[in-house]
Amino acid sequence: MTRPRSLHKPVTARAHGKINLHLGVGDPGPDGYHELVTVFEALGTPETVTVELAAEDSVEVTGRYASAGIPLDENNLALAAVIAFREHTGWGGNVEITIDKQVPVAGGMGGGSADAAAALVAVAKLAGFEDREQLRQIAATLGSDVPFALLGGIALGRGRGDDLTRVLSQGTHHWVLATSTGTLSTPEVYRRVDELREQSAGQSPASSGDEQGPDVAQGVGDGETRSGPARLAEPTEVLAALASGDIEKLAAHVHNDMTEAAVSLLPDIAHVMDEGRRAGAHAVLLSGSGPTVGFLAQNATHALELAVLLEASRGVREVVRTTGPARGAHIVT
Ligand code: C5P
Repeated sequence: MTRPRSLHKPVTARAHGKINLHLGVGDPGPDGYHELVTVFEALGTPETVTVELAAEDSVEVTGRYASAGIPLDENNLALAAVIAFREHTGWGGNVEITIDKQVPVAGGMGGGSADAAAALVAVAKLAGFEDREQLRQIAATLGSDVPFALLGGIALGRGRGDDLTRVLSQGTHHWVLATSTGTLSTPEVYRRVDELREQSAGQSPASSGDEQGPDVAQGVGDGETRSGPARLAEPTEVLAALASGDIEKLAAHVHNDMTEAAVSLLPDIAHVMDEGRRAGAHAVLLSGSGPTVGFLAQNATHALELAVLLEASRGVREVVRTTGPARGAHIVT
């Protein structure tokens, strides 16, 4: 194999955060990972990653979330992506990485995964590497959401969420995202999903009336979180609503199986969801494993109204307005 020639000027790439329009969680496999059926939508919140050849690897974080405690060592997903790229391709360069963070950190919006996807595209360009399929395979080793950050748009994800099929959609979606003053760890929310299922499996249907109020009831839907893998049926209504551009239908069918678990760990989430419903949001949806909550608005004006009302809500750190779908990881220089 001929070694591709490295570029000597910096390369900048961009990828975006996401929300899951549908997140069906199955049972954990032997590796502890849960089987998923999910519909991702890339949102307009960008992560911009610049890589440049250097004597040694380094990471700098700038932008809106520069001081959010992002690791600067190999635990940083952008640097992890460069390291994985070197291992898979034999490329020998070291890089200085600069990340401009605009996706809320640790909220279930896949900002770290977007960093990894953007870093992969940038380092591939720097290295003169053009095999997009191999990049996709490297992405899958970095995290469940990284292949989607690479692809962008709207996609159906199976397996760990990394087996992707593009989804046809029409129109633009206006989202308001409310980040939380609290924190949640993704593995902990998955564990809580398992615990709640074990508990409900041990209860008779008559005794499972552990009502947690209307907030939670809407989030978990019609009891489907309490059954087994049948839950992982295709999200056909969501896919049909996307194809026809029917926002009302989409709003009626978005769903996240992790809602009950996230709310049980951080009850303020239920309050924020309820505030959004009262403020007239079309759909109220936990973003991934949370704690960020997404609110689907009718249009840009409605999104602004929702944002103003949500900003004052207890448990909300900040409110971000954005639209989807957005592009996958791409070079911007
Ligand atoms: O792959 P990713 O880094 O996004 O996953 C973070 C954690 O979330 C995993 O270590 C695992 O505990 C949990 N997870 C899971 N099933 C999935 C995806 C993630 O249990 N399909």
